[in-house]
Amino acid sequence: MPEQARIIDGKAAAAELRAGIGREVAAIKAARGLVPGLHVVLVGDDPASRVYVASKEKLAAEIGMNSAAHRLPAETTEAELLAKIAALNADDAVDGILVQLPLPKHIDTGRIIDAIDPAKDVDGLHPINAGLLAGGKNGLVPCTPLGCMLLLKQTLPSLSGLDAVVVGRSELVGRPVAQLLLQADCTVTIAHSRTRNLAEVVRRADIVVAAVGRPLMIKGDWIKPGATVIDVGINRMPDGKLAGDVDFAEAVRVAGAITPVPGGVGPMTIACLLRNTLTAFHARRGA
Ligand code: GUN
Repeated sequence: MPEQARIIDGKAAAAELRAGIGREVAAIKAARGLVPGLHVVLVGDDPASRVYVASKEKLAAEIGMNSAAHRLPAETTEAELLAKIAALNADDAVDGILVQLPLPKHIDTGRIIDAIDPAKDVDGLHPINAGLLAGGKNGLVPCTPLGCMLLLKQTLPSLSGLDAVVVGRSELVGRPVAQLLLQADCTVTIAHSRTRNLAEVVRRADIVVAAVGRPLMIKGDWIKPGATVIDVGINRMPDGKLAGDVDFAEAVRVAGAITPVPGGVGPMTIACLLRNTLTAFHARRGA
């Protein structure tokens, strides 16, 4: 039998995180009669987004949070969506607002995100929260990067001084996860589609975070033996199965620890959304 990496069980970690949040929600309800509320806005009927939103609604309800999904037709205008956000901003029972992305093309995503009250921005995408993160002062932190960090911290005794390579520079994952790795005292490289000698850059990494959205792009021989590999990619393959950005079958023989797809980072994202809702509740309504 060839040696095999430890498989990082994101499903179990997410279940544990949700259970802890559920206990805290119950304690808040018992002590203060308040229930944190998460509101998700979905515009149009993108099938993947519908599944994500239903899952967010279900898991929030499961841990005893108030949760509501606002499903708006694809023809919703930017002005109508801004009015919906203004109403949620003004509603004191709403602790967290998430606008599911992508939005239909006729809506300017930046304008919508800018309109969300930063104190309720549980996606952590508002420029105020992104700016706080860039300055090393956390406001609300994007959910998937937060999930990556929790998995890394449970896998490695210390992140300090490690070489981390993030492949991908998106606003949703690559940039914020790089900031969090820097806060954890890693030496951080952000690689992207224009990076020269990408394989060589990745080969230097003690920690690889793959967030490019290209199935199986990162090969086993790009991985330094013993490295920890966090695969954020969720790509639908022609056979209907899901695959990550990392060639798992190859990388699992080289890495020290690796997240599977599915069952790695994916489940952590929603758990971290619930955690952010609780964080927003405490910041707005007092701990
Ligand atoms: N669509 C896919 N991932 C995300 C996410 O993290 N936040 C939002 N709002 N939409 C998404």
